[in-house]
Amino acid sequence: MVRPSKSFLYDVLEHELSLCRGKVSIDAAAANFKNRRMFRTKFYYGVDLDLELLEQGLARYEDETTFGIHADLAKLEAIPDNSADVVVSTNTLYQLESESQKKALAHLCRIVRSDGKFICQLDLGPDLETLLSIIRSNFLRVKIRYYRNPISRFYEWIFEQDGFLGSHPIAGRRPFRLLAWLLSRLEFLTWRSARGNRRALIVGSQKIGEPANQVFDLSAMPLKDRIYQLT
Ligand SMILES: C[S@@+](CC[C@H](N)C(=O)[O-])C[C@H]1O[C@@H](n2cnc3c(N)ncnc32)[C@H](O)[C@@H]1O
Repeated sequence: MVRPSKSFLYDVLEHELSLCRGKVSIDAAAANFKNRRMFRTKFYYGVDLDLELLEQGLARYEDETTFGIHADLAKLEAIPDNSADVVVSTNTLYQLESESQKKALAHLCRIVRSDGKFICQLDLGPDLETLLSIIRSNFLRVKIRYYRNPISRFYEWIFEQDGFLGSHPIAGRRPFRLLAWLLSRLEFLTWRSARGNRRALIVGSQKIGEPANQVFDLSAMPLKDRIYQLT
């Protein structure tokens, strides 16, 4: 990992997912299933708007436990309430415009089973309180870990001056990856306070309301080559 902030994010995400078992995981905006290996449930469903990325993901995981869902995160009406054990969204919600962000978040929370877990990453922007209130209205227990502290941002800024950090010739070298990882450990010292940080990883559990779980059933939707069409 070349970014200290992402190294922190994925370490915490991997730890949280290692604690989640059950039947169904939803990776919301899964791209080419780069995070698939972290999920421990029996079935994995990667949602994305980009059909080509879903096809790439499925080519990497040629098994009958991995599926794609071609859909817009703001339009997930076809997925039943309280039906997925784990729902995750990282590195995506901030890309959506404000109204779509709220709709997507409401759907993702709605889909989580009463005993399931919701994990999402948000920016500390002007919409944060509204977005957090959507999460808090769905889950009794909400843990927030703040990250992307000034040290990570400074390190990332040095390399970003030359463009996209991931392709920087120096940032990608092994000693610099090690340095990025070491800096990411400092995020564990600053994760309790929003002050100075730019992002938050939120974990919601203990769903509020009647525990009326439903079967995760997309059989009414068109399915081709392990991709359900919800568009
Ligand atoms: C940066 S990638 C995130 C990949 C992965 N979740 C991660 O943590 O790195 C963003 C993905 O969001 C998808 N995306 C953007 N807007 C979307 C939407 N409204 N509905 C579903 N997917 C969307 C893009 O196609 C892209 O694959």
